[in-house]
Amino acid sequence: MKLWGGRFAKETDALVEEFNASIPFDKRLYEEDIRGSMAHCRMLANQGIICGDEAEQILAGLAVIKEEMDRGEVEFSLALEDIHMHVEKRLTEKIGPVGGKLHTGRSRNDQVALDMHMYVKKEILETVALIGNLQEALVNLAEDNLDAVMPGYTHLQRAQPVLFAHHLLAYFWMLQRDRERFLDSFGRADWMPLGAGALAGTTFPVDREMVASELGFAKLYENSMDAVSDRDFVLEFLSNSAIMMTHLSRLSEDIIIWNSQEFGFITLDDAFTTGSSIMPQKKNPDVAELVRGKTGRVYGHLMGLLTVLKGLPLAYNKDMQEDKEGLFDTVDTIKICLRLYAAMLRTVEPNKERMYAAVARDFASATDLADYLVRKGLPFREAHAVVGQLVGKCVAENRQLVDLTTEELTEACSHFEDDAKEMLPPEACVEARQSRGGTARSEVEVQIRHAKSLLINDQEK
Ligand code: ARG
Repeated sequence: MKLWGGRFAKETDALVEEFNASIPFDKRLYEEDIRGSMAHCRMLANQGIICGDEAEQILAGLAVIKEEMDRGEVEFSLALEDIHMHVEKRLTEKIGPVGGKLHTGRSRNDQVALDMHMYVKKEILETVALIGNLQEALVNLAEDNLDAVMPGYTHLQRAQPVLFAHHLLAYFWMLQRDRERFLDSFGRADWMPLGAGALAGTTFPVDREMVASELGFAKLYENSMDAVSDRDFVLEFLSNSAIMMTHLSRLSEDIIIWNSQEFGFITLDDAFTTGSSIMPQKKNPDVAELVRGKTGRVYGHLMGLLTVLKGLPLAYNKDMQEDKEGLFDTVDTIKICLRLYAAMLRTVEPNKERMYAAVARDFASATDLADYLVRKGLPFREAHAVVGQLVGKCVAENRQLVDLTTEELTEACSHFEDDAKEMLPPEACVEARQSRGGTARSEVEVQIRHAKSLLINDQEK
């Protein structure tokens, strides 16, 4: 007989049972479910809703069930629907009918909301730590290669020389915002829903503050209907994950391009690449490609839950059970992506000569030549035109800006003097960009110091 079977005369159709059950995936919440039940039980006893002796028995029973589940000893069945009913059923098997008192003043609607909040809070903190770890790998790779100069790109066309470190650190700051976004969302996952009952509150004199403080929640939901029907905290987790995956996907794109034979800017370690079953020479950047690919499923989970929620009337609806698989898959996906990325970056070998060669014989210093004329008093627009013509001339003659003689330069514009060609080496272009946040080494060093202090501060929190 089902725990809710009182008013039913017929058995549930087998296909319905399978369709309705969430146990295949929500068993993952057993730890939160039991911890939440323990807090609820202590509160019931404290308020005199159940007696102390009953509470003792329930708590002891729950502790044993937790151990059984830790050891994977409990058999789950579709007939018992979800993790909440499995725990309750096992409890009454163990301690008898008194186990049935645990559900006093509570509904599965506020219970599942509580479990989900506890789970999301835990995963936010784990995600934040993993992001920090990846940020550290980026800072280390940047700091170890401060001398590497490469082309910076716009439109994937060589634009201006930058430090390889500068390019890497751009990702540090994206991830910093991700970390802050996750931490910021923690505050909204930190509202405690239990005590909402099915939707309207409960007739028992529950102490919601006590449950919140036992379980480490900062706030209570102020409205019982909101408490059981809110999944914003799940949406925020998915949305934060989607934005973060966008960053990892863009980093993947850079890594894949840099690792190509055409670019050859970096070499990925054998341990983080895979081969081809037909082409013996291949060494593929599968990790980066898969991270880029998995971004799609994370976006999908966000879209999925937004769509589930958009048409739901208050309060709880069974549709909301659909919040779980997408969330769990997102958690698993982002955690492995973050772990792999940190490990892979620790083994990346930059090929500094290739990077330098790509920028040395190139037009990437054209802006610097124009800026030179501006410093001599020419309006920037005119300087742009002069240098544009010089570039055109070089392209036609298959030469580079460095190949032009000072005479050729002064012919194009009388403001050019002997020192004009000093603007052209890529290192000079990099060094000249000392504006705050620019690519000059001194500025990149400022970034690295700031980045490290953020990582240390956050570890101390
Ligand atoms: N398995 C359900 C879920 O994940 C638990 C809540 C069920 N509540 C109910 N009234 N059927 O949402």
